[in-house]
Amino acid sequence: MVLENQIINKYNLTKEIVSFEVFSPTIANKAKAGQFVIVRASSNGERIPLTIADFNSTRGYINLTILKRGKSTNQLGLMEPGQLLNDIVGPLGKPSEIEKFGNVVVIGGGVGIAPILPIIKSLHYEDNYIISVLGAKSAEGLIFTKEIKQYSNEFHICTDDGSLGFKGFVSEFLLNYLKKDNKKINRVIAIGPALMMKAVCSITKNFNIKTIVSLNPIMVDGTGMCGSCRVEVANQTKFACVDGPEFDGHQVDFDLLISRLNIYCNEEDIALKKFMENHKCKMNI
Ligand SMILES: Cc1cc2nc3c(=O)[nH]c(=O)nc-3n(C[C@H](O)[C@H](O)[C@H](O)COP(=O)(O)OP(=O)(O)OC[C@H]3O[C@@H](n4cnc5c(N)ncnc54)[C@H](O)[C@@H]3O)c2cc1C
Ligand code: FES
Repeated sequence: MVLENQIINKYNLTKEIVSFEVFSPTIANKAKAGQFVIVRASSNGERIPLTIADFNSTRGYINLTILKRGKSTNQLGLMEPGQLLNDIVGPLGKPSEIEKFGNVVVIGGGVGIAPILPIIKSLHYEDNYIISVLGAKSAEGLIFTKEIKQYSNEFHICTDDGSLGFKGFVSEFLLNYLKKDNKKINRVIAIGPALMMKAVCSITKNFNIKTIVSLNPIMVDGTGMCGSCRVEVANQTKFACVDGPEFDGHQVDFDLLISRLNIYCNEEDIALKKFMENHKCKMNI
């Protein structure tokens, strides 16, 4: 018998990115593209937000795709099928706005490729013309390429080192594409590191193309109570967990977001070092 919050399958997509199918029928039933959950791996674990990268209401699972960065994501990365996540809260946040926009460029960078998959699927079913652009440091860092290609009308890859596709950042690719392509682009959606989303927005602003980004500030409760996910959008304070996580990228104060993401760097370094020290054997370091 499969239990609620039990890991059904685990896929090591790259050296740093792991993907889990987790049995969570209630969340799978309600989830929509663009939403996220807050997860604790263990009873004394940190609450961390993770996008619902895919969901299947028939089989009752959600997919969580995780970049192993610090203590909590590495702790999750060590979990195996059959184990239980301590708790999962969700679905949280507002779903992505999905309708027939026309020609839509959807950009995913790094682990940000995972959350664009359900968005691309939903846009595809609304009959949009989808130009997907995936970016990673190198070819080994790319995830879900087959799945995303299947739902895209145009499919482009960018790698920083040129090991596959266009050599350079997704923002450089986008600028070239917008300059030379005579298709009218009705909307851009970009999900990835804050610097990437900032660069994309500074380009699309000049072309006057509405651009949606998914913000990833530090979150704790996920219900609009603690204030840790505070972001500035159109000179107003918003809470990404309840007002977002998707916002009009041209209105976002990215510099504030980036500085707030780095507030706890020292503490995070210490926590990761301690964790790695305790799990040396398991992590082969
Ligand atoms: C709405 C949302 C959806 C997200 N979806 C995904 C996803 O699908 N896959 C994925 O790999 N990551 C996702 N993230 C980021 C993920 O939550 C952080 O990488 C994770 O919390 C880092 O925890 P850590 O202990 O491993 O790293 P730490 O060493 O604690 O932190 C590393 C960096 O992660 C960020 N971070 C730390 N704690 C939090 C927190 N509680 N909330 C948000 N960011 C934090 C900070 O920038 C920090 O510098 C998402 C974040 C948000 C806000
Ligand atoms: S995470 Fe606490 S207000 Fe958003």
